[in-house]
Amino acid sequence: MTTASAPGKIILFGEHAVVSGITALGCAIDLRTKVTVQDMPGSVLIKTALPLQGFSLDLLSGRLESDQAAHATRYISAAIMEFEVRDIQVCIDSSLPLAAGLGSSAAIVVATVAALSEHLGLGLSRKEIAATSHRLEKKVQHGMGSPMDTALATYGGYLRVSQEIQPLDLPSLEMVVGYTKMPHDTRSEVEKVQELRKRCFDLVDPIFQAIGAISERAVPLIRERNGQELGELMNINHGLLEALGVGSRELCELVYAARGAGGARGAKLTGAGGGGCMIALPGSSGVDALMVALRQAKGAAFNVTAGSPGVRLEDEP
Ligand code: PMV
Repeated sequence: MTTASAPGKIILFGEHAVVSGITALGCAIDLRTKVTVQDMPGSVLIKTALPLQGFSLDLLSGRLESDQAAHATRYISAAIMEFEVRDIQVCIDSSLPLAAGLGSSAAIVVATVAALSEHLGLGLSRKEIAATSHRLEKKVQHGMGSPMDTALATYGGYLRVSQEIQPLDLPSLEMVVGYTKMPHDTRSEVEKVQELRKRCFDLVDPIFQAIGAISERAVPLIRERNGQELGELMNINHGLLEALGVGSRELCELVYAARGAGGARGAKLTGAGGGGCMIALPGSSGVDALMVALRQAKGAAFNVTAGSPGVRLEDEP
């Protein structure tokens, strides 16, 4: 039996602008997906212990179907096919909400590839795990998907992403993630923004440039743990994403709850927007006040460490 776990991710700064080659900053978080593989002669079985959302019950067969669990198992099937494995059972256990923009698909595929590599004695390097996982994620998502999520799930820490991906050695940060409980659709949000950029290049390009400047300016602030100015940058980046049309009422309610009752130093949506998650940097009233404020605003709240380790083998399933 072999178990591997891989982290989810948040985008700290630069989402959407990065699609046009502008710098973004992402980091791994300590919400992880665990995948256990074990020999099971005569079958290829995938078992999931995933947060159930969007499920349905077939009253005739009594079968409970979960759209999201079915979606997650596609990544595992792709990895099983890649390595032509038989006689195996694969179990997923995840603390990451699915389809929330926290990199759950990448964490599943990276943990599966790492667990299979160890179990089958393939000895894949991290670089090979990241490359294989990115290829498999793209295949399942019909050609969509930047390498950022699979790279963060593999290497952990922080990554600066523009034309290329560069790991950054920065200290970890305590943050809070607020989930609107509304799934989001990365493809449609990206298309919407790119269409706006085409139509109003003179307006959107300066916004992208400003977002890129924010990502660059944030790096030394994280190094110095300058929460005050980082929070300010988060607020500016959120405003610019709103201007691009990827905000939503639910996201804004969480952002304002975080900055208000939650006492956050700063808050912004993270990822593609239109739903999904926001992030906040705790202020002097601390993490608990922030978590309570987000829950009161009807969000799910997660206390996370930004800059967490990447994929690893685990002793216990
Ligand atoms: O919400 P997510 O994690 O799918 O993030 C998408 C980030 C975008 O910049 C909007 C798209 C991309 O491919 O970088």
